Amino acid sequence: MAKLWGGRFTKETNKLVEEFTASISFDQKLALEDVEGSLAHVKMLGETGIIPLDDVDLITEGLLKIKSKIENGEMEYSVEHEDIHMNIEKQLIDLIGPAGGKLHTGRSRNDQVATDMHLYLNRKTKEMIRLVNSVQEALLLRAKDNVDTIIPGYTHLQRAQPVSFAHHLMAYFWMFERDKDRLQDSLKRVNWSPLGAGALAGTTFPIDRQRSAELLGFDTVYPNSIDAVSDRDFIVEFLSIGSLIMTHISRLSEEMVIWSSQEFQFIELDDSFCTGSSIMPQKKNPDVPELLRAKTGRVYGNLVSLLTVLKGLPLAYNKDMQEDKEGMFDTVETLEGSLQLLAPMIETMTVNKETMRKAVNQDFSNATDIADYLVTKGVAFRDAHEVIGKIVLYALQENKFLLDLKMEEFKHFSPLFEEDIYRVLSPEHVVGARESYGGTSQVQVKEQILLAEEKVLG
Ligand code: ARG
Repeated sequence: MAKLWGGRFTKETNKLVEEFTASISFDQKLALEDVEGSLAHVKMLGETGIIPLDDVDLITEGLLKIKSKIENGEMEYSVEHEDIHMNIEKQLIDLIGPAGGKLHTGRSRNDQVATDMHLYLNRKTKEMIRLVNSVQEALLLRAKDNVDTIIPGYTHLQRAQPVSFAHHLMAYFWMFERDKDRLQDSLKRVNWSPLGAGALAGTTFPIDRQRSAELLGFDTVYPNSIDAVSDRDFIVEFLSIGSLIMTHISRLSEEMVIWSSQEFQFIELDDSFCTGSSIMPQKKNPDVPELLRAKTGRVYGNLVSLLTVLKGLPLAYNKDMQEDKEGMFDTVETLEGSLQLLAPMIETMTVNKETMRKAVNQDFSNATDIADYLVTKGVAFRDAHEVIGKIVLYALQENKFLLDLKMEEFKHFSPLFEEDIYRVLSPEHVVGARESYGGTSQVQVKEQILLAEEKVLG
């Protein structure tokens, strides 16, 4: 079949080469963006008098027909036309005749593909902001029910100090808040228009790049045509933000796997989010959080893969850059699927408040508070630490927890202990006493939730 660029060639393209170099199997996802870019380009060509208005009308009409074919899933693509840009241009020419051939005036596929990618990521970044926000809403909802729920807080996965379960959930809220902020900030760079940069050097036609940028809703245009067609930083940035989002999803998923284990039983995932075992009838497996944790790998891979593609490339466009797409689509789809599942999984999990409370009763996570108790009575923290270390060792030997120790046992270690030590050591008091800004006291957690509510998009 005749190629749009066939003039200089005397031989047919080798079939394997055609397959190998074509991107139509995946870049058809950019079909609507491609039409959108062309509509703006042709309007600008008309306004600047570069092509006659009759042709502009014909081309516009043709493009709109193609657009509805795409939307209705009726579009047919062929590998002979290599990519989405040439497939659409060929269909346009078939549809409206030779006038269709004027669409490509003053542009190249190099600025065209970059424009498509910018438009696509603009749309997807905004969608991602909404999805991250819905996970934040789910976290906030569960945090509100659990301000007074106490769980052991861990460092090194060893019991450290008890915390409000809401406080723990809200830690994830703030991670996602920063992700949302990163996505929002990245839009500043996604919103540069490469259109009109041509192959790399600009064009001899009196085009108006500002106008086509404005028609497409871009904030600004790339000031350098070489940079415009060579830049894939905005995709790297998206893949990198996506990697961080997956890191956060993965850490939360890991906790869900641990918390739902027989050993912890802090939460139970809803049946609708779990699967069974083909051999062990008792099993209820946390497949969803496990897969979320695992899918993080491919998202990191997509980032490293694009960075690697770009690192050795001379300016300007190189065919290597066609490899920017599949990883990007994969990251977009993985993120969409993951965020969409995470929100309802959080919303429907059962929180076993009693089990959590029992866990807190059976540990030494109130030890810091006895040290603080002695400090308020004038003992230096380092000395208090030493005394409490000895008390813990003694309690362990006696097979007791701190609240089980009798008054005389406390007094044996320091005469400064009084009856009020028992109140100080209760988990409610231990949590409630951490009133420093951002701490886990119920008062502080409620303040935090108020602040968080302002961050959630309506
Ligand atoms: N399919 C190509 C890509 O995705 C479009 C740009 C092709 N440009 C070129 N000079 N061959 O990168």
